[in-house]
Amino acid sequence: MPLRTAIRDLVILDGNGGPAVAGDVGIDDEGRIAEVGSVGAAASDFDGEGMTLAPGFVDVHAHDDGALVNQPDLGFKLSQGCTSLVIGNCGFSAFPAVPGRPSRDLLGLEPTWSDLDGFGRVVQRGRPACNAVALVGHNTVRSLVMGTERREPGGDELAAMAGHVRAAMSQGACGFSTGLAYEPGRFSRTEELIELARHVAPFGGVYATHMRNEGDRLLQSVDEALQISAEAGVALQISHHKAAGRRNWGRVSESLAKVDAAIAAGADVTLDVYPYTAGSGPMIQYFDLDDPDPELAAAIRLASCPAFPELQGRMLADVAAEHGMSLAESVRHVLTAPHGDRTICIQFLMDEADVVANLGHGAVMIGSDGIPDRKGLPHPRLYGTFPKVLGRYVRTQGVLTLPEAVRRMTSLPCDRFGLQGRGRVRPGDWADLVLFDPAVVADTATYDDPRREAVGIGAVWVNGELALVKGRHTGAGAGRLLRFGTG
Ligand code: ZN
Ligand code: CU
Repeated sequence: MPLRTAIRDLVILDGNGGPAVAGDVGIDDEGRIAEVGSVGAAASDFDGEGMTLAPGFVDVHAHDDGALVNQPDLGFKLSQGCTSLVIGNCGFSAFPAVPGRPSRDLLGLEPTWSDLDGFGRVVQRGRPACNAVALVGHNTVRSLVMGTERREPGGDELAAMAGHVRAAMSQGACGFSTGLAYEPGRFSRTEELIELARHVAPFGGVYATHMRNEGDRLLQSVDEALQISAEAGVALQISHHKAAGRRNWGRVSESLAKVDAAIAAGADVTLDVYPYTAGSGPMIQYFDLDDPDPELAAAIRLASCPAFPELQGRMLADVAAEHGMSLAESVRHVLTAPHGDRTICIQFLMDEADVVANLGHGAVMIGSDGIPDRKGLPHPRLYGTFPKVLGRYVRTQGVLTLPEAVRRMTSLPCDRFGLQGRGRVRPGDWADLVLFDPAVVADTATYDDPRREAVGIGAVWVNGELALVKGRHTGAGAGRLLRFGTG
């Protein structure tokens, strides 16, 4: 087949973690990599200018389920060099759904579909910029079957939930996710989760979990995740691994030691992390309005606040002081106002040394956990995650080498989440590629100015089509909704 494009004058990192080699890469008419090394004549040549070419990055912890439908250009992901996204995290997925019934969770969707096949058709019609593969979310499934009931499911209800998980897996979901810190997931017992995760096993997917507790009971939560994975016979992905709250700082190392011991004993465990010391999510989920946690309240910054847009970007403690309110009163003030329950907050709860410990571990992938809210001041991880790892933690601090960072952003996640024929620069694979300058690449998004695209990303190809070049988004829309285990 004739070459469509030859990308020339490259330093190639193939995604396997080995050293870079000089050469060219040829892309065929189908959008696959045809040749690597010395490449013959092509219909068009692209000058790589001696920069580094790697497989496109995979954001393994995305909440872009809604964005795939209503912001399909996905500029915040493409500009980081991401070509594939794992959606449906933290127990929240776009399906199963009731057409016409809007979702009340952070995805903010108005579904016209009921299942993954239907969602996939809608996504594909919108020509998304990136590929995506979906987890089916426990919170979504449980809400659909039993609303927000604070009880165990009855036999019929459990069977109905299992049916939704099985249906999603048979339609190509890459696994089952939980968000056990959130409602209604937190009302479930371990047995319910094992029972549901069992239906993932025949398909080879993963159990991805936002654990029940990421602070005082982090280690017990890791035990629960390992138990679910072992009893259900499913690989485990621990989401946004962290130790929240000052008194728990340093526990990431203990938690990683526990994971290492489990791996040594035969468990199949991987993790992900975002390279920031603050998290972000729906504020209503973090507080008991009768007794708001003062330590948490003191760490809160308002990201998106439909009730009081003028407070976006402010620390809650400063707002409380200005208004002569206690912290507890300020929490209630924000959350009980009209639309206050839609507030997204940022919470500064982690230690930098724990972020570094995570990045230093060979089983840890990168997941942004970005919330693609068009309003307010989102957490800068939405725009900065991957370039920040490459700039700050690879180039400046040397926490991990560049080939290793690229491996953790490419082949490791593709193998884990069933993105077959992706994640490596090798003939036959899909040409999902990123060209970047390792000496320059860096995030520029900050908490005060979070919508800034990274620097040092030269070009991005998705399925062989040029999607981004020197800061210009081409609008190629070449992404695909992928099925587990297929290209
Ligand atoms: Zn989460
Ligand atoms: Cu998440």
